[in-house]
Amino acid sequence: MTEPNSSDSTAPLNEKQQEELAVSLESESPQIPLQRSDLHTRFMVGRVRERVTQWTAQGPAAAGIPRAHGPLEKINVIPGILAVPTHDEDGEKIRFAKKALFRALRSLPVTDDANPWPSPESAAAVITQFVPILPPPAVRWTDVASDRVMSLLAFQGLASHRLEPLEADKGGAAYAVDLSWMHAFPVRPGLEPYGACAYFGADRTLLRVYTAHDDSTHHPGDASWEDAKWRWRCALFAAVTVADHLAATHFLASNVLVTVTREQLPENHPLRRLLKAFGYGAVDVNLDAGLMLAPEGGLAHRLFSFTYGGLSRCLLRGFETTKFQTFPQAIAAKRVDALGDAFPYATDGLALYEIFRTYAQEYFDIFYPGESVVRDSAVRAWWQGIVACAPTLALGPLNKAQQVLDLLTHLMFTVTGFHGQVGHVVPYLLDPQFITTKIRAGSRMSDIQATVQVLNLTALTALEQPPLIGDYSHLFLEQDKERVTAAFRRYQQALIKLSRDIDERNRHREQPFQTFNPTVLDTSVST
Ligand SMILES: [Fe+2]
Repeated sequence: MTEPNSSDSTAPLNEKQQEELAVSLESESPQIPLQRSDLHTRFMVGRVRERVTQWTAQGPAAAGIPRAHGPLEKINVIPGILAVPTHDEDGEKIRFAKKALFRALRSLPVTDDANPWPSPESAAAVITQFVPILPPPAVRWTDVASDRVMSLLAFQGLASHRLEPLEADKGGAAYAVDLSWMHAFPVRPGLEPYGACAYFGADRTLLRVYTAHDDSTHHPGDASWEDAKWRWRCALFAAVTVADHLAATHFLASNVLVTVTREQLPENHPLRRLLKAFGYGAVDVNLDAGLMLAPEGGLAHRLFSFTYGGLSRCLLRGFETTKFQTFPQAIAAKRVDALGDAFPYATDGLALYEIFRTYAQEYFDIFYPGESVVRDSAVRAWWQGIVACAPTLALGPLNKAQQVLDLLTHLMFTVTGFHGQVGHVVPYLLDPQFITTKIRAGSRMSDIQATVQVLNLTALTALEQPPLIGDYSHLFLEQDKERVTAAFRRYQQALIKLSRDIDERNRHREQPFQTFNPTVLDTSVST
């Protein structure tokens, strides 16, 4: 199997540099009780705080008018499978020298410190220190270890996109969120493997949990019940972060969108201008992910329990098993009609998708009436480029305008709404008894190191970026600008109306669901 292996050749830190690093950290963050020897996590605490506090929030004007097109210089993240461009047309968010230092840190030993929090209160005191550098949580989760919250995770939380219907389940379950496949991915010594499946009734009640490490099924009231639920929640976070967020959303959808669009569509092509806002900053953030998250010794390797081989397989799973499916098709496959707004992932997500679809259709009607888009040579090259870049999407030959419309709408939805579903994780990280990244036998609370590592990464990747609701009309061509701007205004008004509709629906929901609220979404995966 080919494993992620960045072609970046940054030199490792030598012994003297490591000693100097240790000395420089002596005065930093003494209030966070990390092991003295954990230079990587301690270093990141200071640098992440520095980066976030020095960050200037970006607005729509940061998305510049495209100036060029053609082949882009790239680095390999997964040789033969995934390459990311090296230069963002809107500039780098952090200086190259600092990136080189971050990359050199990959050579520090990958360590797992088992030190537990002395109490939930002591964890809360440290988590509170991170709150000012994290985005405000859109939803507050309470009673986090309860069966009720497991159900909320599946029907209006981090697991909703993975909810699947069941046929004639012997235990009476109607739905499941199956993460048992994660058991195949090796973990480091002292840490427990991931892998669990949660089963729910037609009324959303949690009925049972299967855990793969002991090949056992657990029911409410069993002595093992709380442990089984904990294992499922932790598997969920790892699967969503590595396979769904990093691989399927950043490295697949966003990277394909921005790379092929810049390579195949001329700077004054109508489609290039339409997609510009949805690719803003994506090269920069995907390059960071390719150099600092995905490689051996990178942030994801340290944060999760996986061996590097295990992490690689989880990444590849997200990258290679994602087929092209529109959001309405994905919802239809879940067979959730009877749930109505008890599955708000569908209610709000379908409404957001429809707004993108209408906007794209109106834009097409201006520049490509009827089937004319299929005959546009640049659009055909763009389609072929995506087929070549992501063959597992199985797009097939381009024959109808509807195919372009579906793919465009899918990409716009994926880098905004779906990215919010898999990437806006702060609400899940504020209580060490809710979710952690490393499972340890006999414990149902995040350890100190894992807590700090995940908060570091979340703060690092959550800098305020251009919002979905904003004026991007400077990106449009002069040709038919009045009609295009009018379509854009209708699109923006529809987003604002959806936001109000979601606010109203949230008043009647068991817990607010803000994932697809346009007011909390960015215009791209720039974080
Ligand atoms: Fe992201």
